[in-house]
Amino acid sequence: MSDPIGIFDSGVGGLTVAREVFSHLPAEDVIYFGDVGRTPYGGRSQEIIQQFARQDIAFLTEHNVKAIVCACNTVSAVALAEIAAEIDLPIVGVIEPPARCAAGVTTGGRIGVIGTQATISSDAYARVLREINPQLKIFSKACPLFVPLAEEGYVDRPATRLIAEEYLAPMKEVAVDTLILGCTHYPLLEEVIREVMGPQVRLIGSGTEAARATTELLRDQQLSRDPGGKGQHRFYVSDVPEKFTQIATHFLGRKLDNVTRIDISRY
Ligand code: DGL
Repeated sequence: MSDPIGIFDSGVGGLTVAREVFSHLPAEDVIYFGDVGRTPYGGRSQEIIQQFARQDIAFLTEHNVKAIVCACNTVSAVALAEIAAEIDLPIVGVIEPPARCAAGVTTGGRIGVIGTQATISSDAYARVLREINPQLKIFSKACPLFVPLAEEGYVDRPATRLIAEEYLAPMKEVAVDTLILGCTHYPLLEEVIREVMGPQVRLIGSGTEAARATTELLRDQQLSRDPGGKGQHRFYVSDVPEKFTQIATHFLGRKLDNVTRIDISRY
């Protein structure tokens, strides 16, 4: 099927998920929407996050997408179950795929989850993990400062190391063996998180697992494009694109020039 896949996020961070989708599904066309005008979502209430997510999805459906990837962990945690029931399109979120992976690889059944305040308060990862295996011990911690640090490119600064040590100390204390990076931005800080947690702790990023789940979904629902072609990628944002374009390089690993501003309040 030749329609595009739609990916949305509260801003630039979802490009870490888009990057994985591009590499798993190189023949697919993709439309990415980043709500940079209203980012961040992570400290907002459930009502507002749901309202924003409905508008983001309405924008994508106007472009005839065949499936939607909700790259934002906050939206996936707080709003997706309700919204998925309202629309007639397959949606992949970023909670269940990494949770399944973590439950599969954990050696001692002690899993840590880090994310935004809204993601952690929702308890969404813990609920899914307990459904998969009620014996698992889950430890959660909000790490809100990781978002601006990643956006500033502060990936290897001493300040970032100090903050990571403080945030992750409780995870080390309870000796998690697996840690879910439950936020779009955290893959950029993977190196410092690994240094602080130690090599024995398995880190699970949500982008890779969501891209795998998207590949399976397209295959199962016979929505995949014929392999071999090269997909087109289009990017839309809800405010001036300059900052998005500038930061995108860190998140996507390449430069972007085709970014269009849209008015999300119309949706
Ligand atoms: N995209 C958000 C997430 O993955 C992080 C940024 C925000 O708070 O909007 O939870």
